[in-house]
Amino acid sequence: MGFCSPVCKVFRRGKYILLFLISLSVLAWIAHLSGETIKDAPVSFATPQALVKGDSLREKLNALAATPDRLITPAPKEECPQESPLLQGALKLSFESSLKLKDVESDNKAVIEGEYEPSDCTARQSVAILIPHRGREKHLLYLLHHLHPFLQRQQLHYAIYIIQQAGDVTFNRAKLLNVGYLEALKDYSWDCFIFHDVDLVPENDHNVYVCDKQPKHLVVGRNATGYKLRYKGYFGGVTAMNKEQFFQVNGFSNNYWGWGGEDDDLRVRVELQKMKIVRPPADIARYTMVFHKRDSGNKINKDRMRLLGRTPLVWRKDGLNSCTYKTMSLERLPLYVNVTVDIGKPLS
Ligand code: BGC
Repeated sequence: MGFCSPVCKVFRRGKYILLFLISLSVLAWIAHLSGETIKDAPVSFATPQALVKGDSLREKLNALAATPDRLITPAPKEECPQESPLLQGALKLSFESSLKLKDVESDNKAVIEGEYEPSDCTARQSVAILIPHRGREKHLLYLLHHLHPFLQRQQLHYAIYIIQQAGDVTFNRAKLLNVGYLEALKDYSWDCFIFHDVDLVPENDHNVYVCDKQPKHLVVGRNATGYKLRYKGYFGGVTAMNKEQFFQVNGFSNNYWGWGGEDDDLRVRVELQKMKIVRPPADIARYTMVFHKRDSGNKINKDRMRLLGRTPLVWRKDGLNSCTYKTMSLERLPLYVNVTVDIGKPLS
C-alpha cells in the first residue's frame, strides 16, 4: 500500500483523464455526424436528385412534401380590369384581297380551336360569338382577321362558332342562331352570346362584346347608312344577350326564311318580357359593312310582316324549344368551331 500509493494515484488520475478525453471525442464525433445530416437535409429534398439518391419511402414523401405549392396548384389569377388597358379605340380596318386564312391563323397563335382566354387575368365574361353563314368565305375571312385581335384586346374568354346552313334551301339566319346557342352550350356554360352578321366589322374596340343587365344592340351605325340608327326599334346586325335573357324569350323564331323580320321579331319577344334594349354610344358602336349583292338563296321574306303580327301569340311555342335540326358535322378548326346543320325547309 505504502509503495503503490503515490504511483497508483498518478495512474488512477490518468485513467480518469483518459476516460474523460475518450468520452469527449465520442461526443464530438456524434455531434459532427448529426450536424452534417441536419445541414444536408433541405438541400437534398429540394432537388429532384433526392428521389434518385435516397430510396426510402420517407425520403420520397419528404421530397414530395417539399415541392412548392405553386407547382401543383397555380395561384388564382386576378380578375381582368373593368376596362382593358389593351384597347386602342377607333381602328384602321383593312380588307386586303391577298389575305389568306393561314395569315390570320399565324397572327392568332393563342387561339386554340376558336377559343381564347387571357393568360394573365381571369376574364370578366365568357362569350360565345355566333355567326350564321353560307357561302360568304371572303367576308368570314375579313371578319376573323379583325374580330380575333379585337376580342383579345378586350381580355375576354371567348369562342367563335360558325353555323353553316347545309343545302340550298332559303337561308334562315334566326334558326341558325338558335342552333348556335344550343350547340355552344354543349361545350361550355357561356355567360353571354353575340349574334353576329358575317359582313359587319366593328370599327372601335371600346364597343366591348359583353352582356349587360338588358339585351344590347351593338350596331348603332354603319358606313353604308351614314352611321345612323336605321329606325328606333332596329335590333339587327350584332346583338348581345346573356344566357338567361335569350332563354327567357325562347330564342329567335324558327319561321323566318329569307331576308328580314327575324330581328324585329326578337325585339318584340324582348319587349314582351319587359326588357329594355340598351346601346353603346353612337361614336363607338360603329361598323363597316363589307359590300355584297343579295344572295340568291336569301330573297326578301315577303311574309315577314304577317309573321311579326303573330309573335305575341306564338313566341312560347316557336323558338329554342321547337328548334329541330340535324348536325351534319362539327369541326374544331384553328380559328373557329364549324357547325354544319340541316335545318329543314319552310313549311309551305
Ligand atoms: C327588316 C329587318 C332589317 C331592317 C334593316 C327591316 O325592314 O325587317 O330584318 O334588319 O329592315 O335592314
